[in-house]
Amino acid sequence: MTKKFVLAIDQGTTSSRAILFTHQGTIHSVGQLEHDQIFPQAGWVEHNADQIWNNVREVVGLALTRGNATYDDVAAVGITNQRETAVVWDKNTGKPVYNAIVWQDTRTQKIVDELGGDEGADRYKKLTGLPLATYFSGPKVKWILDNVDGAREAADKGDLLFGTTDSWVLWNMTGGPNGGVHVTDVTNASRTLLMNIETLQWDESMAEVMGIPMSMLPEIKSSSEVYGHGRKQGLVPGVPISGILGDQQAATFGQACFEVGTAKNTYGTGNFMLMNTGTEPIHSKNGLLTTVCYKIGDQPAVYALEGSIAVTGSLIQWLRDNLGLFEDAQDVEYLARKVDDNGGAYVVPAFSGLFAPYWRSDARGAIVGLTRYVNKNHIARAALESVAFQTREVVDAMNADSGVALTELKVDGGMVANELLMQFISDQLDVEVIRPEVAETTALGAAYAAGIAVGFWNGEDDVRNNWKEGKRWAPAEKQSERERQYRLWKKAVTKTFDWVD
Ligand code: G3P
Repeated sequence: MTKKFVLAIDQGTTSSRAILFTHQGTIHSVGQLEHDQIFPQAGWVEHNADQIWNNVREVVGLALTRGNATYDDVAAVGITNQRETAVVWDKNTGKPVYNAIVWQDTRTQKIVDELGGDEGADRYKKLTGLPLATYFSGPKVKWILDNVDGAREAADKGDLLFGTTDSWVLWNMTGGPNGGVHVTDVTNASRTLLMNIETLQWDESMAEVMGIPMSMLPEIKSSSEVYGHGRKQGLVPGVPISGILGDQQAATFGQACFEVGTAKNTYGTGNFMLMNTGTEPIHSKNGLLTTVCYKIGDQPAVYALEGSIAVTGSLIQWLRDNLGLFEDAQDVEYLARKVDDNGGAYVVPAFSGLFAPYWRSDARGAIVGLTRYVNKNHIARAALESVAFQTREVVDAMNADSGVALTELKVDGGMVANELLMQFISDQLDVEVIRPEVAETTALGAAYAAGIAVGFWNGEDDVRNNWKEGKRWAPAEKQSERERQYRLWKKAVTKTFDWVD
């Protein structure tokens, strides 16, 4: 029987989605469910890993039913995921020993400081491509082993497994305690502070420094090969699971950024710009990360420079849920359009400290420039502007590291539906911003990786041919005004430093 679709599972920060993609790279059907965001204390962010797995099963069922399809129609399954979020579970029972600690969580600050010692945050940057920061998964695993009763003993006995949510989903899909495959891909492994960025293998000395037994770590594989098959009792029995990419790398792949120097920025919970730098890792001098972009089967790995911004869509959620400024996240654009400017207000959403290019975990969020004149419309506008300013900071760093100025920016992710935001970004960067026809490039990238492994697609050329431009925004702001706003933004950022006792 001819296979009609590839199924992508996108296990994101706020929701899990399953999407059936056609051979043309178009969306056939979608299932989506949000999961709980758990905030036990200031700076802590957790997810219930069991809830995530149940939701994944449910959304796969929804996508199949809505698409009037069965597993027989599915050529392969690709998984993409929120990166760095750490799950530790018992391999005999399949139960997590603690909630998943989310990438935004800052509880590992002390661990990270201790790891840096006198040498500071860049101590392992050459080895791992990453600065020491609470963002990455290794220290989160250490925290669980140090703080959850019985965890270290169980880990030493070889009973516990660690994985980012790609591994968690894959292990469960392929059988869980009954033969589940414990694997991750190079892109996810490159976010742990445990992988050697050159050899693409776990670095035993890093695992030792963090007190993490090697037996907990998943096997590192490429981003596109058959890792295993759907378990017999599951929704996709016998279907090959053959693609894994961290969500930002998946979007880069889905946006067909295959040439050195091509880049995309994805606007989701956070926003993450990745630039393809080819088959050698390039080390940033300007606060960017060195990360694996993708590795297709036994071809050489392709690397990227990444500018990570922690808070984007989550700022809009915060305005909605914590401040009650509006009921629907989309209304932020409506409010922001009611005023001509930000009224002098600047919002710096340093909820998880500041990521690129600052890497200041001592920063906390601020709204500055307030007067009696400022109303909620100004705040909504300032929140959207903060996304554009942060994008500019990352683009400036990319330009400085690569020595070439970016000439246009491909964007994707949930927030690119916000057209005012697209204009702000184009204005701040002074380059054209391009949204593809299919803005779900994260899920699409994972589908391509899986489909290429089983011959559903032939390779990168199919991805290039399927990519279609949707809409484009051109800069329309006067240079003097753009620079004035950016100067004030930079000043506002300095007000967020040193907020942790
Ligand atoms: O590194 C974190 C990133 O993978 C989360 O992405 O789309 O959930 O904001 P997103």
